[in-house]
Parts: sequence; C-alpha cells; structure tokens
Amino acid sequence: MPQSKAVLITGCSSGIGRATALHLAALPGWTVWASARRPAELAELQAAGCRTVALDVTDAASIDAAVATVEAEHGAIAALVNNAGYSQSGAFEAVPLQRVRAQFETNVFGVIALTQRVLPGMRRARWGRVVNLSSMGGKLVFPGGGYYHATKHAIEALGDALRFEVRGFGIDVVLIEPGLIKSGFSEAAIGAMSVREGMQEVYGPFHEAVARATKESYEKGPFARLAGVPIDVARVVERALVARRPRARYTVSLSATVLLAQRRWSSDRVWDWLMRQNFPSPGEA
Ligand SMILES: NC(=O)c1ccc[n+]([C@@H]2O[C@H](COP(=O)([O-])OP(=O)(O)OC[C@H]3O[C@@H](n4cnc5c(N)ncnc54)[C@H](OP(=O)(O)O)[C@@H]3O)[C@@H](O)[C@H]2O)c1
Repeated sequence: MPQSKAVLITGCSSGIGRATALHLAALPGWTVWASARRPAELAELQAAGCRTVALDVTDAASIDAAVATVEAEHGAIAALVNNAGYSQSGAFEAVPLQRVRAQFETNVFGVIALTQRVLPGMRRARWGRVVNLSSMGGKLVFPGGGYYHATKHAIEALGDALRFEVRGFGIDVVLIEPGLIKSGFSEAAIGAMSVREGMQEVYGPFHEAVARATKESYEKGPFARLAGVPIDVARVVERALVARRPRARYTVSLSATVLLAQRRWSSDRVWDWLMRQNFPSPGEA
C-alpha cells in the first residue's frame, strides 16, 4: 500500500470529476485534492472534505505549482485521476485549426504533461495509480466527433504504453471507458462547435444534425435509457484505486457495453451504414 494517500483529480468543477472527488472524500483513507481552472468553483467540495488547488492542465506553471503543493504535504501523489477534457465537435474540414490544437492541448498534452510531472514522485515512493478518463470514444468514432475521438484514441495508446513502462516501479495505469454519462459534457460539446470562414454553407446543416444527435443521444434517443451518471464513473474510479491488481480497462454504463459490442461486431461498411441512419452525409444531394 502507498505511504501517501493523496489523490489528485483534474476538472472537478463539474460532472465526473466533481462526483469522483465527492465520492472518494467520503471514503476512509484517501486525502482528495480536487482541482479546477477556477478554484472558486470548488467551495462545495472543500466543504465536503476535499482539499482544493488551482490547476489548468494546459498551463505548465499551473501544473508545476499544483503538484508541488500536494507533494510538499504528502511527499508524493499516490493517485492521479486525469479527468479534465471536452469535445471539440465539428466536421474535419470545418473546425478551425487553433480549435483542434486546443482540443489536443487539453485532452492529450495536458494528460502527458501532468502525468510526467507526477511520475517521479510515484517512482520514488514505488507505488502509484494513474487513472485516465478515456471513453468508449477511444475505440469507436461518431461522425462530427473526429477530433475528440482522436484524442481519446491517443489516450488509449498512451495508457497501453505507460502501463507496461511503469509497472516495474509499482505504478498501475488504468483506462476508464465511459459511455454516455449525463453531465455538462454534451452541452459543452454543442457549445464548442465552430466553423472556419466560408464553411458554414458547406457544413452548417451537418453541424446542426450533429448537435441534435448529441442532445438526443443523452436525453431521449434509444441510448439515453442506457446512459449513466457521474457517480457510476466515480465508483469505477474507486475500484481502480483500491483493487490490489486493477484491470487495464473498465467500461462504464450499458451504453458503452452495447455500443462497443456493436462496433466490434460490425464491419466498417455496416458501422458507416448505422451512422448514416443518424447523421446526414454532407454533400449528398
Ligand atoms: N460525459 C460523457 O458522456 C463522457 C463519456 C466518456 C468520457 N468522458 C470524459 O470524462 C471526462 C469528464 O467529462 P464530464 O462528462 O465530467 O464533462 P464536464 O461536466 O463538461 O466536465 C469537464 C471538466 O473538465 C474541465 N476542464 C476543461 N478544460 C480544462 C483545463 N484546461 N484544465 C482543467 N480542467 C479543464 C472542466 O472545467 P471548466 O469548468 O473550467 O471548463 C470541467 O470541470 C472528460 O475527459 C470526458 O472526455 C465523458
């Protein structure tokens, strides 16, 4: 077992991060460090027993300061939950490049930079858990979500490599693959959609369809009934932290089980046909 019992969680202002911080803080043993870009949003978590710290995963100085704060008190971070993330939805051709870069800065480079900063402490302690919020979207792709899915495919690949590389230091790396989880995620994805100059005419209707399909899949489509809630993910993060030998991957919610099975057993042609039942193909008369 670890000497330190400090768990650092990113993106705790809402959704899965918030629920995970609250859930772990109610368990005996762990000291939960809930973090957010705007720490003022963490007052409720502080009242529930969490320690709080400012952390923007796209800012190197912020990463360094947050990790130094936790390490000064606990020696090392025992567990890191890389949760912060969002979807920059939109058609491949339409999304402005700086938005694509920003998507990778948060969802991929943020995870890399923070994990690189935390690992030396874990290696010194010869114990650690790195829990990465991937997604069922790390194994399948929905139209209009290419950039988000690319970041989650990257998280899957990086997790698989890191799991092998740090095992000998006593560090476990776990990928969590939620399906549809009712949080601020879908609203943020719809709100973040943006088009390059001149692209509105070409992709505007497609973007509207993607926004509609996103909203429906969480609220009233056939899969909405299979969606989960943030506490479902929090309980799985707990399992990943307390298991003596955690699994490499955990899926969360029936929507993930069903959609991942559908993807696994569908040829690319069949999957594309399924997607065409829900999304119009841009350019088709
Ligand atoms: N909900 C789903 O259906 C679902 C499914 C699979 C995977 N996931 C993954 O689960 C994770 C959490 O999503 P959620 O559902 O809880 O969505 P959410 O409610 O929108 O929460 C996202 C969190 O990420 C934070 N964040 C964004 N950029 C950040 C940055 N640069 N630095 C620090 N924090 C930042 C947000 O903080 P601000 O308030 O400052 O923006 C917010 O706290 C994400 O990685 C997401 O990809 C979600």
